[in-house]
Amino acid sequence: MNKENGQNLSAGKLLVVDDDSNLIELVAMKLKGANYEVATALKEEDALKAATDDVFDLCIVDLKLAGRNGISLMTELHSVNPEMPVIILTGHASVESAVEAMKKGAYSYLTKPFNTPELLLQIERALENRRLNSEIQRLKELLQERYDFTNIIAKSEGMRKVLDVVSRIACTESTVFLQGESGTGKEIVAKAIHLASTRRNKPFVAINCAALPATLLESELFGHEKGSFTGANRSTKGLLSQADGGTIFLDEIGDMPPSLQAKLLRVLQEREFYPVGSEKSVQVDVRIITATNKDLQAEVKEGNFREDLYYRLHVIPIHLPPLRERKEDIPHLANHFLKIISQQMKKEVKGITPQAMQKLMLHDWPGNVRELENTLEYAVAMTPLDMITEEFVLQTKNSVPQTAPQQETGPQMNIALNGPVKSYKDARYLFERDYLVRLLELCGGKASEAAKLAGKCRTDFYELLRKHEIKIENFKAAGNVAHAPQ
Ligand SMILES: Nc1ncnc2c1ncn2[C@@H]1O[C@H](COP(=O)(O)OP(=O)(O)OP(=O)(O)O)[C@@H](O)[C@H]1O
Ligand SMILES: [Mg+2]
Repeated sequence: MNKENGQNLSAGKLLVVDDDSNLIELVAMKLKGANYEVATALKEEDALKAATDDVFDLCIVDLKLAGRNGISLMTELHSVNPEMPVIILTGHASVESAVEAMKKGAYSYLTKPFNTPELLLQIERALENRRLNSEIQRLKELLQERYDFTNIIAKSEGMRKVLDVVSRIACTESTVFLQGESGTGKEIVAKAIHLASTRRNKPFVAINCAALPATLLESELFGHEKGSFTGANRSTKGLLSQADGGTIFLDEIGDMPPSLQAKLLRVLQEREFYPVGSEKSVQVDVRIITATNKDLQAEVKEGNFREDLYYRLHVIPIHLPPLRERKEDIPHLANHFLKIISQQMKKEVKGITPQAMQKLMLHDWPGNVRELENTLEYAVAMTPLDMITEEFVLQTKNSVPQTAPQQETGPQMNIALNGPVKSYKDARYLFERDYLVRLLELCGGKASEAAKLAGKCRTDFYELLRKHEIKIENFKAAGNVAHAPQ
């Protein structure tokens, strides 16, 4: 085999296999002239060796090789590099076999004698085709990756952005910092990151740093030696060691006591720690994801949280928007929970009435997605019908809207007078946005219908949607919001 290097900027790396040394020399010269890097092989063994040792962009194979049929060589080459296009060279008499070769995966064939422009054109096309195929494949994988978070509802722009970041960073080793109000989905996102990472087959271990007193938290996290404190009758492996190879999720990191913050910093810096009462350090390979609903930067300023630790943790910050800022998600989430809960309770509840849905849309959701989930659980448990009606929505003691009753002020007044009084301009803006979202939900994303109900012409209605950056597609997927998707 003879390898001839082309110029620096090669247009591609080609392998030419033919038992005719004159022809092969000629072809190699022409291809080099066209800026390709060329390797040649007179025998199939040489061709196979070359294809195993190196990666070629394309291969040109003579159909009638002295030792063997070019088709079987092609099949072997494809078993090494399945994506590599193969162009078959054939004499007039063997066009039929060339067609056969195409059926078996050749990109094209050329009948001898062929001219150089013809050969170059075929090569160019094959390479372009391959480039496009791999681009399509890459995009498919990206889509797959991006939206394969089947249990996470993310129709709103805000949540889509979250999942976009998640899909980009899942496969890295970087530390993730999730920030969001209580119930916004921090834990479900942390799990999604783990499941989309290469660590997915290793453990995902979660611990809530606010739930335990300092000493207990320390031994839970780092483990302890037998006798290291009263009641430590035997040594235990801490959660960090249990998570080895996988991911540890430190929830409510803002509540981690200062004494443990230093110890955690060491884990981040050295990937090692000392179990309580032990002088032998333990090495761990864990990815760390933390979450908080606090403003951790403010905690740093107040001296409650170590600044150096904050920066070590705050590598990839992801903010989970509160539900009231992504109301488009409500019908999807509600139907999602309805489906799961009714299955769990073995109650056939098929849907949510428009009135009940309207109530869900107008609520402010201080408890975010968790509150919505609980609301649905209550409603499914209570309803005697096969639908969720408004009387069973948001009537529980804990989740009654904190705003004035609807009969007295009308639902829209809530937006304007909920919390500190807003300026007329801001209140009007919020009202408009809410109104549009609700209307689109009720019309299942049908703009013409929504415009009609609003008494607006289509152009004006679209103008309003643009002003509020509301995307109509987000409402279409919901179908009829009054019914759970089957
Ligand atoms: N986008 C979503 N799609 C589907 N379910 C969700 C979504 N977000 C949250 N949930 C569900 O809502 C509930 C609360 O979410 P999660 O526990 O992840 O929130 P959190 O931010 O960790 O809350 P907390 O601060 O109270 O710990 C969970 O049952 C979770 O599965
Ligand atoms: Mg949580």
